[in-house]
Amino acid sequence: MLDLVRDGDVAVLTLNRPEALNALSFDLIRAIGTALDEAGGWDIRALIITGAGEKAFCAGADIKELMGRSLMEEKAGAELGQRVFAKLDTLKVPTIAAINGYAFGGGLELAMACTFRVAGPKAKMGLPEIKLGLIPGYGGTQRLPRLVGEARALELILTGRTLAAPEALAMGLVNRLAEGDLLEAAKALAGEFTGYGLPALALARSAVQRALTLPLAEGLRTEAELSTLAYRTQDAAEGLAAFVEKRKPHFRDL
Ligand code: CAA
Repeated sequence: MLDLVRDGDVAVLTLNRPEALNALSFDLIRAIGTALDEAGGWDIRALIITGAGEKAFCAGADIKELMGRSLMEEKAGAELGQRVFAKLDTLKVPTIAAINGYAFGGGLELAMACTFRVAGPKAKMGLPEIKLGLIPGYGGTQRLPRLVGEARALELILTGRTLAAPEALAMGLVNRLAEGDLLEAAKALAGEFTGYGLPALALARSAVQRALTLPLAEGLRTEAELSTLAYRTQDAAEGLAAFVEKRKPHFRDL
């Protein structure tokens, strides 16, 4: 159902239910939560999430499990998905969704909860819940407008239409298209930040996340506090000294 493997500095979490296009059964969502907790304890510097098989990253919530539930079960289901995906916000390492095929509904919501998204040539994505008489429930109505703006988010959610990778790139929903091997492209993106200190990476992620929720004056106050915290780290002392001494810094996550 789920594979978590380590490859040097990077861990790769693969949704592995290809017979159901890696749809998010509730068991799979819980397993993702457990895997994120496990990866959080590993000595890694990035986490990549992808889907097994040729066709799909993840086709969304497991539609067969969505029927015949009570109101409270429906609410608990949405809260479970939101809670598990929110773990990505606070994971100590940045995360990259490597979108290898369909990323629909909850699948795109999982990708949007990652720090970055890299799309393969076969990637197709959207929030098609409206076609089922539903609306997104694992964060899509909140994260999509933060990524692409209100007008585009409303268009995508109200029409449920499918985007191919180039359009997703143009609107900022994905960061990069992979020209060759998708996992290699995701690892190459990871390689652009894994050499930096985890404290500064975490402070930067935290500051940017707050830019989208706080009024400007409060956001600037937060930035002043978080950037001051960054100065207090040993990595900052090392980075500044290395520049002055014209050498490569050696960050130790301290
Ligand atoms: N849930 C459960 N099973 C799914 C699934 C899903 N979301 N998506 C695909 N599958 C299953 C199919 O039932 C099929 O299984 P069987 O062979 O046993 O019938 C198998 O995966 C292959 O799927 P298709 O035959 O449909 O493959 P396709 O290539 O013809 O179509 C597709 C691919 C366009 C992605 C199509 O499967 C599809 O539209 N899937 C549903 C996408 C969707 O609506 N996702 C949103 C779900 S709701 C949600 O996510 C709510 C939320 O916000 C949390």
